[in-house]
Amino acid sequence: MLKDDYQMFTVMIKDKTGIDLNQYKEAQMKRRLLSLREKRGFATFSDYGKEMGLQNDLFEEFLDRMTINVSEFYRNPERWDVLKNKILPVIKEKKNVLKIWSAACSTGEEPYTLSMMMKETRTKARITATDIDDTILKRAKRGAYPERSLKELPLEWKDRYFQKDGPGYEIDQKVKTAVSFNKHNLLKDAYPKEMDLIVCRNVLIYFTEEAKQSIYKRLADSLVSSGILFVGSTEQIFNPSKYGFEAEDTFFYRKQ
Ligand SMILES: C[S@@+](CC[C@H](N)C(=O)[O-])C[C@H]1O[C@@H](n2cnc3c(N)ncnc32)[C@H](O)[C@@H]1O
Repeated sequence: MLKDDYQMFTVMIKDKTGIDLNQYKEAQMKRRLLSLREKRGFATFSDYGKEMGLQNDLFEEFLDRMTINVSEFYRNPERWDVLKNKILPVIKEKKNVLKIWSAACSTGEEPYTLSMMMKETRTKARITATDIDDTILKRAKRGAYPERSLKELPLEWKDRYFQKDGPGYEIDQKVKTAVSFNKHNLLKDAYPKEMDLIVCRNVLIYFTEEAKQSIYKRLADSLVSSGILFVGSTEQIFNPSKYGFEAEDTFFYRKQ
């Protein structure tokens, strides 16, 4: 591989999409993209990037590979139980309508889990769900899922909020209407304000340390005082006070 080849590619991608690949962990990202590039028969990243400008399906495939949008409902169930039984009762005491942001929401399993939880606990909330990837946001809005996405979901919720749809399941309209989906790049776009709860899980692991630190600060700014940040189960913040957080429970941080 030419030394600056990948760098040239990152410039092309930034010009085309605004996505800055340099803020994602390089070795990991390069490895993922290299296998795709080789599969498509390009000797260099710059040739691959140039062709992407001409062939949209090549570009869509790249975006799909770089974003990694694996998700599921009620992912890491014991953490969602903590949210329902310990965190939510406290934050809902102070507000009539909670403002919740599911950042990097992928195909919608996370914001729809939140929506079901709000219904189950009779909590009024406005849920905003965002992701960088348009294609998966369209899938999120459709709300159709394979059986395996529901494997951690409480059975009663599955019965109450899903209809069988061929081999998979379709989520109820009443769960969908509580969520609004928007495109948003965590590395670049302005963050919403006055959030009571931010769920930002399984995306920070892909970013460089520097990018991650800047995101933590911006997430803290995005919360009301005493608002909660809920991160993924490999994404513990080692020095929360640096960003104005204190640990509330494992993988939950309260803005001080
Ligand atoms: C592994 S999924 C996590 C989905 C969900 N939060 C969960 O934990 O199940 C990572 C998501 O991060 C999104 N993503 C990657 N880079 C992003 C960025 N810069 N801004 C916003 N979303 C991003 C991807 O498109 C993908 O949908």
